Amino acid sequence: MHLPPLADWLSADLAQRAAQPSADGRGRIVRYRSLYDALRQAILDRRLTPGGRLPSTRELAADLCLSRNTVSSAFDQLIAEGYIEARQGSGCYVSAALDAPAPQKSALAGRRAEISQRGARLLDGRGGAQQEIQPFVPGNDDFSLFPLKTWQRLQNRQWRSGSSEIFDYGAAGGYLPLRAAIARHIAVSRSVRVAPEQVLITSGTQHSILLCGQVLADAGDLAWVEDPGYWGARKALAAADLELWPVPVDRAGLHPSAADRATAPRLIYVTPSHQYPTSAVMSLPRRRELLAYAAAHNAWILEDDYDSEFRYSGRPLSSLHGLDPDERVIYLGTFSKSLYPGIKLAYMAVPRALAEPFRTALYDLQRPGQLMMQAALTDFIDLGHFAAHIRKVRQAYGEKREILVRTLRPIIGGVATISREASGLHLLIELPAGANDVALAALIATEGLVVRPLSSYYLGEARRRGLLVGYAYVPSHEMARHARRLGEVIKRGLRSYG
Ligand SMILES: Cc1ncc(COP(=O)(O)O)c(C=O)c1O
Repeated sequence: MHLPPLADWLSADLAQRAAQPSADGRGRIVRYRSLYDALRQAILDRRLTPGGRLPSTRELAADLCLSRNTVSSAFDQLIAEGYIEARQGSGCYVSAALDAPAPQKSALAGRRAEISQRGARLLDGRGGAQQEIQPFVPGNDDFSLFPLKTWQRLQNRQWRSGSSEIFDYGAAGGYLPLRAAIARHIAVSRSVRVAPEQVLITSGTQHSILLCGQVLADAGDLAWVEDPGYWGARKALAAADLELWPVPVDRAGLHPSAADRATAPRLIYVTPSHQYPTSAVMSLPRRRELLAYAAAHNAWILEDDYDSEFRYSGRPLSSLHGLDPDERVIYLGTFSKSLYPGIKLAYMAVPRALAEPFRTALYDLQRPGQLMMQAALTDFIDLGHFAAHIRKVRQAYGEKREILVRTLRPIIGGVATISREASGLHLLIELPAGANDVALAALIATEGLVVRPLSSYYLGEARRRGLLVGYAYVPSHEMARHARRLGEVIKRGLRSYG
């Protein structure tokens, strides 16, 4: 068969890449990833010129005998990273901004040489965008509701106490009264029953995950991660030199296939209360299956319960930890969502036998500090301010969610599906299977609204398309207006990108 020149050399390039071992050693993500790599390299080498038009995903899929989904996933990744740009109604073009002079080869080689293979792996794939404080950006709380005066008073009280303890490196594992306060809180709210000594204070969920990887696994061990899933967890596991094994997620949470089950991991990272980013709540049968699987295969489950304080209707399912008779679950909590992200205080509850190794590792790897903050937070919890704050923000976020859904439904209800799970700080708007959610998110950004495309959270091929919409940060009185604008632009955009 005679192929157009681009398809011709791409097909040779793909054949050559297929002959090499895949990035994850198992060939699971090789097709989409290989096409992405081949196109990216061709753009960097200027074999594809800046401003040049690319064939449509349909044409390229037919020429290369690939599924259209595979080609779309590669294009979406290239769009997300700025190598190509989608123009409404006329297809994709190599980004004109790449027309700047290419760096000198020697300078580039020198820079690459400074980065280790691990470093290069860490820099690969989706990472944290610089937080834009715009309506609907997922992940932000409503800072205006934070009881600043009370917080300042409690902090001042600690400074005035002049206790030498708060000036020192922290006690191993963190400030013990805070660990006790957290143990009481998670016992009541999440059925996580542990002694204060089993609670360790860390500087964020990623820090907790990194520590789990370093203490519980060896380089090259396997970690199951949700796909789509939280990039921050993947980066932390990769930093501990684990191999990532993407496991699909459906409407009942993590859904390992027979092939997945045949490759027992050392660690399993899950967000069962409110799957990030799809919003699925893991069903009780799935929870039981996962616990039984972990016990049978000596795997540790990392349960990331990042936003479980926020459930607006129905009774929450208790934590995985609370259902676990075998002590295979490490429970991860954070104050980023319940107080404010910049506080960078999180915690982990570990099985009794792991408390001492974790405490020592935590102390030896990163001397703890921030004792003043930890002492103020202890008072904040013990004096009832934390519970009162959660009650207040839960009510406010529930109302905001309600306005958002009520406003969006009549505008986009016929063309998209809004996630039903009334919990957390974000919801998912699911789009038709072939929709270009990256282009749609870019269009929405031109309106000053920031949402994230679901496809960018996949490690493998994106099976579903959608938009992640954070609602906590938008002021209540502006919610209906912003929601209307969002609905209108989605409806309009879907005519081109649906
Ligand atoms: C799934 C998930 N877990 C945890 C966190 C919080 O992480 P940290 O405690 O490091 O702020 C986030 C933040 O967005 C998240 O999306």
